[in-house]
Formats: sequence, C-alpha cells, structure tokens
Amino acid sequence: MSETMPEVLISEEEIHDKVEELARRISADYRDVEDLILVGVLKGSFIFLADLARHLTIPRSVDFMALSTYGNATDTDGAVRMIMDLRRNIAGQHVVIVEDIVDTGYTLAYLVRTLAARQPASLKTCVLVHKPDRREVYAQIDYLGFEIPDEWVVGCGLDWAEKYRTLPYIGVVKPEE
Ligand code: PRP
Repeated sequence: MSETMPEVLISEEEIHDKVEELARRISADYRDVEDLILVGVLKGSFIFLADLARHLTIPRSVDFMALSTYGNATDTDGAVRMIMDLRRNIAGQHVVIVEDIVDTGYTLAYLVRTLAARQPASLKTCVLVHKPDRREVYAQIDYLGFEIPDEWVVGCGLDWAEKYRTLPYIGVVKPEE
C-alpha cells in the first residue's frame, strides 16, 4: 500500500526563514549574555532546537527535559509529570525553553512554573507552532514561529503515532489517513 504524504501547511523554506529570524532576534536580545541555556523538551523539540541552536550567533548550550502527560487534565498541571530533569542547575542562568508546539498550553505552563521556581536570571520561551483555538490555559510564549489552525500537524519534530517527526516541512494529517 502506498503512503500518502501529509499535505504541506508550512514549507521547508518558510520554516528555514523563520528559524533564522527567531535566531536573529534571540541573538540580539541576549547579546551580552555569557551562556544562554536552551532547554529542549523531548521528544518533539529536538529538530527545532537543533536548527535554532545552530543559527544563534551568541554563546549557548543545550539541555533537555522529558515529560509525560497522564489522562485528562484534572488540575492546573493538566497531569503533566517530569520523567527526566535537566542535568544542570539553572539558578542565576539565562534560559529559553524551546518547544515544537503549544496546544492546550499545559506542558509549557508546567515548564515555566517549574523552571521559574529554580530562580534563573531570566526565563523565556520559544515555540515553533501555536494552536490558539486549542489553548486551555495561559502559557507564556515570547518567541513564536507560526500560529496554525486546529489540525493534526506533523513534521519538524511533531509526530503522528511516532511517524513523520523528521519530515522537513509541517504537514497536516487527516483523520482518515
Ligand atoms: C507535545 C509537544 C509539547 C506538548 C504540547 O508533546 O511536544 O510538549 O505536546 O501540548 P500541550 O500544549 O497540550 O501541553 P507530546 O506529549 O506529544 O510528546 P512528544 O514531544 O514526545 O511527541
């Protein structure tokens, strides 16, 4: 059976240009910082984070967290739990959380609350795509790539049952596929 590829929503070229633009803005905003820590959230952020990190022109390092979401949202965490923490202490450091997508907002809200409690010098977020129609809780988005409609999107780290994460564009998967 041949596999139909997801329909293009945001092209590879648009993503490339946007990553460059975001990297320029972040490099300018943090030009006097000795070491900017980019925090990636596994698995979805790994491609966006790699692209962004390579376009920054300032000193930077990367670290990762992994989270898990259990069942339905029953509290302000939306049942988000940490399953792998950062390796380094971020107290007094400048930190940017890098996420592939904000959907309901629970994951990013949890991350911001959790990392802010560790007293970094500053804490901002950089998100590739945001679905405003799906948002349930406030989530701080400081640098945003694209606002997208409420469709199931894949590519650039986003998956559909673990498929399509490495697709170089952001595509839409229809439910019948
Ligand atoms: C995705 C994405 C975000 C989160 C956003 O992760 O990478 O971390 O969902 O959703 P929210 O705004 O509704 O909280 P997912 O749980 O699919 O895991 P993955 O990154 O390993 O694909």
